[in-house]
Amino acid sequence: MARNYGNDNKSALQAKTDAQKIAFAPIMFQAAKALRDFGILSFLRRNKEGKTVKEIANQANISEYGALVLLEAGLSLEMIYAKDDKYFLTKTGYFMIADKLTRVNMDFTHDVNYKGFFHLQEAIKEGKPAGLHKEFGSWETVYEALAEMPDKFRESWFGFDHYYSDDSFPQVLPILFKNNPKKIMDVGGNTGKFAIKCAQYNPDVQVTILDLPGQLNDANINIKANGFEDRITGYPINLLDFSKPYPKGHDIIWMSQFLDCFSEEEVVNLIKNAKEALDENGELYIMETLWDLQRFEASTYSLHATSLYFTCIANGNSRMYHSEDMKRMVEEAGMKVVEVYENIGVSHTIMRCKK
Ligand SMILES: C[S@@+](CC[C@H](N)C(=O)[O-])C[C@H]1O[C@@H](n2cnc3c(N)ncnc32)[C@H](O)[C@@H]1O
Repeated sequence: MARNYGNDNKSALQAKTDAQKIAFAPIMFQAAKALRDFGILSFLRRNKEGKTVKEIANQANISEYGALVLLEAGLSLEMIYAKDDKYFLTKTGYFMIADKLTRVNMDFTHDVNYKGFFHLQEAIKEGKPAGLHKEFGSWETVYEALAEMPDKFRESWFGFDHYYSDDSFPQVLPILFKNNPKKIMDVGGNTGKFAIKCAQYNPDVQVTILDLPGQLNDANINIKANGFEDRITGYPINLLDFSKPYPKGHDIIWMSQFLDCFSEEEVVNLIKNAKEALDENGELYIMETLWDLQRFEASTYSLHATSLYFTCIANGNSRMYHSEDMKRMVEEAGMKVVEVYENIGVSHTIMRCKK
């Protein structure tokens, strides 16, 4: 369904300028990353009086030619400005090095997505993660591949995933524990980070993590390291096999940054299975980054880009959902959203759902 968003109010000149930014975006992205990784941005940050090309090249251990082309790209990227033969860092340049959100997004773009996105059009036509298949291997989805991916891929994938969800934990726990649940099921619980937070937050709670065996191997290491083997249990399952019921007897089912990994039809089936596993008073909590409920333009921009990661790399058929889509899918699965908590963590919304 089309949504009301955006307008066409730019001047023609501005529009044409913006079109060139898009046309050269991958080249300029690599220039920005090189400025960051060669330490040029942090050198300029430390030297507010500005530095010459020669000084910058020496510091970065690259040729003056190399430093010059990157610095000039940096001028157009507005990460750097020049005055009297010296270069200085701008605020945007500062965020490129000092802001964790920007770093996590950039590493995710580079290490997980960049090469694979050459195959985006194929992914769209075929409804398959063509970027994953062409650049990494023939797994059905990225989730089956995660445990075997190159270190850089894993590091940036987990960095991205954890950055967004970790930040929300302090706000989430009081919401989830309001009615003192005894047993929580974390569906798509990944490396066990959230389950461990729950066990630390409440001394009695028992947590079951449902995920693929590869992720549970990592989770088990973390659970053991934190001494929670008696209270956190891994339950290996391929959740796309909808004929497999979830274990019963949990007060709460928690799905965080999970349903966006699935197509609409799959989301409905996953919620149906959750519903089957809950008793009459049980509650399903869905935490998602819903693109229409963002406070900042930068968040919506990031989420629209992340949807394409699902298209090209993750699975070929899922996306970051609109709140109305998510509510509709909850209802199609026979549950209803009874409460919505907005502005959780960086950009999350929690939907509390009942049968
Ligand atoms: C984006 S991560 C979210 C992790 C965590 N809940 C969080 O908030 O950070 C999605 C999780 O769903 C799991 N997952 C995806 N497809 C799955 C499947 N078919 N069966 C079981 N788990 C799956 C992945 O392994 C991964 O741990």
